[in-house]
Amino acid sequence: MTTDYLTLRENFRTGIGPIDDQHREMIEWYNDIERAIATDAPQRDRVTALQGMVDATRRHFRYEENLLEVNGYPDLDRHRGEHATLLKQIGDWNIRLAVGELNLTRDTMRLVREWLVDHMVGSDQQYVAHILDVD
Ligand SMILES: [Fe+2]
Ligand SMILES: [Fe+2]
Repeated sequence: MTTDYLTLRENFRTGIGPIDDQHREMIEWYNDIERAIATDAPQRDRVTALQGMVDATRRHFRYEENLLEVNGYPDLDRHRGEHATLLKQIGDWNIRLAVGELNLTRDTMRLVREWLVDHMVGSDQQYVAHILDVD
């Protein structure tokens, strides 16, 4: 079975050190989930990987939203909304996976991947000029 591992590609990079580190960590968790699916790992490994991604994502969003807030980013509300949508989605999946209601498949992960890539390449890139300018 082929897998769809993600790498921190050039167009993901923001040039803001902690943000790039956190994005890399989220991508690593994402790849752990892909690996768990590809190797048919036991459910507890999938739960662990998804929980890792949820925690890393929550920490990152908190950091990023704070950075945008202290720098007076004008589009913060919409950005926050996008974060909340993803967190709710993966948090719900994690609960359903833990109680055996959901089987994480590559189709499910494709949605996460599309969102992550769209958000990092699209919305996150939009604040870069503002943040680097203020600093
Ligand atoms: Fe973001
Ligand atoms: Fe981000």
